[in-house]
Amino acid sequence: MYCRMREMEHTEVGKPESLEDLIKILHQIFESDNINVEEVQNIMEAYESNPQDWMKHAKFDQYRYTRNLVDEGNGKFNLMILCWGEGHGSSIHDHSDSHCFMKLLQGQLKETLFDWPENKSKGEMVLKSQRILQENTVAYINDSIGLHRVENGSHTECAASLHLYCPPFQACQTFDQRTGHTNIAKMTFWSKNGERTPFETTVSQENN
Ligand code: SIN
Repeated sequence: MYCRMREMEHTEVGKPESLEDLIKILHQIFESDNINVEEVQNIMEAYESNPQDWMKHAKFDQYRYTRNLVDEGNGKFNLMILCWGEGHGSSIHDHSDSHCFMKLLQGQLKETLFDWPENKSKGEMVLKSQRILQENTVAYINDSIGLHRVENGSHTECAASLHLYCPPFQACQTFDQRTGHTNIAKMTFWSKNGERTPFETTVSQENN
């Protein structure tokens, strides 16, 4: 069960008891066009990861992390589960002017933040900070905060994370850490609603 009650200015949100519950609450929250980052972060954090809820989306690949679409959020957001095998990581990338919320469902992930490369100077990108994201915590980033890369540094444990992008986007920029050079990466899904997506003939730079 879940509930979302508005009492004057105050919004109270019950604890989601399952991933399905969380999705219902997110649909309610995103009915409004004003995104309250803290509210989304709090509700995603309140959900206690239960692998039974999300197992059907946990599709791992031997070579790269996979992106598995869970819900299309009435066109307002995309919710997906990313599955990271040992040593898998993303390229340094931006978020195409979207909000990005990322909750650890299982394992640990390292997030490295970078500044945007300056227009004219091409060279090693500036590393801003690094942190290890722990199970059930929720990280947030958008383009005004900077760029990031996410990695599963473990050689023995896989990891899974729940990502919410609002609005959804189909491509982003990736960056070469050494030079700051950019590429456009098309984002694809390894599975949708637990079903393997048909193989794409075009090469995606980002994944799958
Ligand atoms: C990430 O934040 O590193 C994952 C990017 C993606 O959505 O593929």
